[in-house]
Amino acid sequence: MAQYRDTYALIQLDYLEDNVNTLYQKVQKPMMAIIKANAYGHGYQQVANILKDNPVIAMFGVATLKEAIDLRKAGIDKDILVLGAIPLEDLDMVIDYDITLTLYSQEYMHEIIYLYHHQKPVKVHIKIDTGMNRLGFKTKEEFEDVLSACPPHIFQIDGVFTHFATADDAMQNEAYQQQLNGFNEIIGSHQFKYIHCQNSAAMIYHDTTKSNITRIGIALYGVDPAGEECKTLKQAMSLYTKVAMIKQIKKGEHVGYGYTYQALEDEYIATLPIGYADGFIRANQGRCVYINGKEYPIVGRVCMDQMMVKVDKDVKVHDEVEIFGEHISLARMAKELKTIPYEITCLVSERVERIYKYKDKIV
Ligand SMILES: Cc1ncc(COP(=O)(O)O)c(C=O)c1O
Repeated sequence: MAQYRDTYALIQLDYLEDNVNTLYQKVQKPMMAIIKANAYGHGYQQVANILKDNPVIAMFGVATLKEAIDLRKAGIDKDILVLGAIPLEDLDMVIDYDITLTLYSQEYMHEIIYLYHHQKPVKVHIKIDTGMNRLGFKTKEEFEDVLSACPPHIFQIDGVFTHFATADDAMQNEAYQQQLNGFNEIIGSHQFKYIHCQNSAAMIYHDTTKSNITRIGIALYGVDPAGEECKTLKQAMSLYTKVAMIKQIKKGEHVGYGYTYQALEDEYIATLPIGYADGFIRANQGRCVYINGKEYPIVGRVCMDQMMVKVDKDVKVHDEVEIFGEHISLARMAKELKTIPYEITCLVSERVERIYKYKDKIV
């Protein structure tokens, strides 16, 4: 199916719509689709395209100005919020492309005022730091100060938001509540077009808040934010490759760099065209892949472009191999790698072709 290589990521675009609908049933609020980092590796253009006319999706959130401008160039005309800090030499582009910035400190506000020489105001959402200690204003006083110090011809304050650090962890419910209470206290009775704090975990694991929009990230892609198996969301990305070669090796022979694997008996070894340059990191050694209804272990070190799997005589050259997908979930893989699913999909590198399906048809 893939054009130049047998390794490809399959992205089921209709699953994104299903996941939006599933969460909308619960929260009943418009959403900002978080499509930073190439839509968590899924392909920002295709993801934005499938969502851009969805009435539930009010706007998009990205991490960098380049991501925001790329989205505009791809024809997205809804609001786009850059969640991270951007260098302000690029302020002209922010205004030209009608991008919304995160206003996160007094210094940043003053830098914008100093550099501003435009006709239109800069659209901003003010970030409140309720506990992450990342970007944002920490106290009510700081928030009130910035509100009164922002000249209205320079700043169009469209929103206010915070980000939860522990919404995915039932053991840290108190910390979540503290952040939420802090957010509510700091905003007080001020009204904004957009008030947002709920990430995927806050939507799934907590009750509603007084915000008027949510930020859907990992749940959009069908993955549980706490890294648990999830039946209500549909995992949109799967990763496949095909067996390139099978050889029979003798007991005592080794496999791969460093000879870290030695055959305990006569064995069949399959070579697969996927490696760490595809984002399939070396820590996967010892984990399993899925071929024709069975799981087989990755033996020897994962190479840059290839890896080897111990198979049996049922496996043939050209057989399809699931790296993750229907049978090996991202949640399981993340647990085995002691990481989070976010990292796995973000790491699937550019050279892995993405194949898109909408309701079982390649698009
Ligand atoms: C500020 C902000 N909002 C929302 C999200 C989306 O979070 P999630 O993918 O857990 O829904 C992120 C993700 O890192 C974020 O940094």
